[in-house]
Amino acid sequence: MGILYHESTKEFHLFNSEISYLIKVLRNGQLGQLYFGKKVPQKEDYSYLIENRYRPVSAYVYDNEYTFSLEHLKQEYPAYGTTDFRLPALEITQPNGSRITDFKYVSHKIYKGKPTLKGLPATYTESEDEADTLEILLRDELLNVEITLLYTIFQKENAIARSARFENKGMETYQITRSMSLSLDLPDDEYEWIQFSGAWGRERYVKTRMLQQGIQSVGSTRGASSHHHNPFVMLKRPTADEFQGEVMGFSLIYSGNFLAQAEVDTYNVTRMMMGIHPLGFSWCLKPKEEFQTPEAVMVYSAEGMNGMSQIFHRLYRTRLARGFWRDRERPVLLNNWEATYFDFTREKLLEIAKNAKEDGVELFVLDDGWFGSRCTETKGLGDWWPNEERLPDGIKGLSQEIEDIGLKFGLWFEPEMVNKDSELYRSHPDWIIQTPDRHPSHGRKQYVLDFSRKEVVDYIYEMVAKILRESKISYIKWDMNRNITECFSAGYGAERQGEIFHRYILGLYDLYDRLNQEFPQILFESCASGGGRFDPGLLYYAPQCWTSDDTDAAERQKIQYGTSYAYPISSMGAHVSITPNHQLNRVTPLKTRGNVAAFGAFGYELDLAKLTKEERDLVKEQIRFVKKYRKLIHTGTFYRLLSPFEGNFTAWMVASEDKKQAIVAYFKTLNDVNQEFRKLRLKGLDQAYLYHMTEEGRETGAFYGSELMNIGMVTTDASAGEVSAGEEPCGDFWSRMVVLEAE
Ligand code: DGJ
Repeated sequence: MGILYHESTKEFHLFNSEISYLIKVLRNGQLGQLYFGKKVPQKEDYSYLIENRYRPVSAYVYDNEYTFSLEHLKQEYPAYGTTDFRLPALEITQPNGSRITDFKYVSHKIYKGKPTLKGLPATYTESEDEADTLEILLRDELLNVEITLLYTIFQKENAIARSARFENKGMETYQITRSMSLSLDLPDDEYEWIQFSGAWGRERYVKTRMLQQGIQSVGSTRGASSHHHNPFVMLKRPTADEFQGEVMGFSLIYSGNFLAQAEVDTYNVTRMMMGIHPLGFSWCLKPKEEFQTPEAVMVYSAEGMNGMSQIFHRLYRTRLARGFWRDRERPVLLNNWEATYFDFTREKLLEIAKNAKEDGVELFVLDDGWFGSRCTETKGLGDWWPNEERLPDGIKGLSQEIEDIGLKFGLWFEPEMVNKDSELYRSHPDWIIQTPDRHPSHGRKQYVLDFSRKEVVDYIYEMVAKILRESKISYIKWDMNRNITECFSAGYGAERQGEIFHRYILGLYDLYDRLNQEFPQILFESCASGGGRFDPGLLYYAPQCWTSDDTDAAERQKIQYGTSYAYPISSMGAHVSITPNHQLNRVTPLKTRGNVAAFGAFGYELDLAKLTKEERDLVKEQIRFVKKYRKLIHTGTFYRLLSPFEGNFTAWMVASEDKKQAIVAYFKTLNDVNQEFRKLRLKGLDQAYLYHMTEEGRETGAFYGSELMNIGMVTTDASAGEVSAGEEPCGDFWSRMVVLEAE
């Protein structure tokens, strides 16, 4: 298994036991794409896949020939303007104004393992045998610029990681104005394009459409991966579903501006692309300088969308997330934000924490408002020292008091931002991102610190590290609450202004990395007004992310369901909050709120003292349940069963690797009356095992895996309007959590 190169045909075959990826050096020296999909045999020669045919109104490369047109060829890293008229993977503006390039194959390297990408998050291997890497060196002789295309194929996962590195070996300065991480020409367009889009409070909704001739794309130009579109899309055969059929997933390990695009040409070839969004982007490549693109990961599954998600879950949970917390059980936390907002005192926080401890919470998190003059959202950001009026003994004192209660302590930061009404802004007004002589727009009365400048990142690092060094802090919630406008940095000259969006993200990664290194045992949770930067880039530094500010149990089913297509359950911060819900004013049962949040990195976002005795008992029970099963929920194989985007029911389940344990969550949105008799076919069980089924601690039967998977689990409920004795009446936003344990 690995990567083979056939010298006679100049063909590369990347493969593991299930998938193949074929590349060929074309007659003109550029790289052609032959195939990506289920494994095909080792053959010297797949050149029949290169179809050189005459087509009217095309342009041809060779004189006196009407066959070789790049427009008709599937390519690996295409350029525009030399007979291909589709959108390209790269574009380089040259001193004479030309943008024409011609990158030809020079050489290649094949080796075991996977390289790291300097300054960028990327998947990794723990032993060299886990993956094989191919580096193909291309050169444009006229420019003396080289591109190295990197491909890593994982042996146990049907995934290929890709990126490109540019290097200027010449004497001139060039501007890279487009540099995709991935470009893939697929031979047909029989795909549904599935994107994960939304807005604040409704992140990552599943949106599907058939590919059409022309260009379909999603992206972000906001300086963050965004609530609006996620850097992840799928191409799915129309006949494929959650459990069977061909699906490809494309994911960009990046937290800034991105573009994910499919161009279907007039011959129904689909050109899939992913990388940094070209709008406003350029990178000045001086002699001897390099530019590395972020990494993109392509996954192929013949087992439908669940099959694809399971590959991403394993890969991102164990070979993208890193560090002390990667494999550890995540603490049950209580965050004070929705309990107090800015209105708290030390005493109130301690009271909330004591109640939390009583019910089994493990970590208390102090959110926004503890620092500088911050008592409303209009001031104080940037002043990372404790507000002594509210916290007379500072964070040092409070964190000790929380530990004395028996809880770990976590703290909120928004390191990338500043309010004008702050000491930081007053001393460094030139540290924000703003365009000279233009009005800087605000968002939530705050401005974005210029993280493209090292001195700004260094300053924030020292401020944050000081608090962490002197206090007992086990967790950080790293928030980011506005997008970048008037993008310009006072730290760079005119020719580098197109780099600022990307340099900002590099500065962000650098700050995360330094804090990760100095404080390896702190659990980081990223956040951006909820799920505005829920992307694989940040998972490298923070193994969990606040999925959405919307904590309503019904809305969260959609948000978590959509998020689960690419991201592991362990990465989704999910909290139980009070009702009426603060975002929607909706009332849902506490049980359902707990059942939704249990499929995430679990916690509470409320003051437990405001609950009744019965509710407190249920909270204790929820926490007991989560502590018992969180390992299974976070590391088991996750299956989506019923989609909240398609009907009144949502269901998902998780099964352990040995199939001995499983948990099924079943949700009904609106109650219905006198309905049909329902069943839910389960997945991932062993046909032959006898499973004991329990619900809320009561055994409710024993069934074989084959029964539960083929006949289904009975989900008929008491919706008849006349509830039989012993049966729980159901209402709106009703749910069940079923545990299956094999004998
Ligand atoms: C936005 C976050 O998503 C919330 O959870 C909370 O931390 C607020 N910011 C605090 O300002």
